[in-house]
Amino acid sequence: MTSQAGTLGTMAPIRSQAESKAKTHSARSAYILHCAGCHGMDGRGVSQAQVPDLRAMADFLKVPGGREFLIKVPGVMGSALSDAEIAEVTNWMLIDGIGRSPPGRFQPYTEKEVQEARRSPLVDVMQSRQALINLMRDSSAEAALSK
Ligand code: HEC
Repeated sequence: MTSQAGTLGTMAPIRSQAESKAKTHSARSAYILHCAGCHGMDGRGVSQAQVPDLRAMADFLKVPGGREFLIKVPGVMGSALSDAEIAEVTNWMLIDGIGRSPPGRFQPYTEKEVQEARRSPLVDVMQSRQALINLMRDSSAEAALSK
């Protein structure tokens, strides 16, 4: 039974390394369990089902109100995740999980910020989303014009 002893022997160091990776790991697992069902493993979404592509979510950080919006959508607010977990998953998505990096210096979301956002849900998600996208268009048009 030497082969079995060998297997156990290689498992031990993997466990101790797991500790330091725990945070990234739990954010990623939370994403897979709570978000990937709609948004897909890579965040691509499903355009026919109007599930947006999260790889572009960092663009919302460029316009006023966008930061709040990202944590106020129903899929996030209504998830079974705690405020701290929502902050962690969102930070993970923006920093090293999915798609484009945030513009400028990114201040990570905090548990307190999520807690406050949860107290005032969006009244009309699609309308808020469209307003933010219009702002993004205006600001990129402005940037192009001032060149
Ligand atoms: C039931 C499907 C579903 C689930 C589950 C879901 N979402 Fe979403 N998500 C959507 C839809 C649809 C939108 C577009 C806005 C809306 O109509 O709610 C959206 C919008 C978003 C947005 C804003 C980006 C944009 O372009 O509008 C973010 C960020 C987001 N979701 C993150 C998450 C995270 C994080 C989770 C897991 C905690 C999650 N979603 C779970 C369907 C879902």
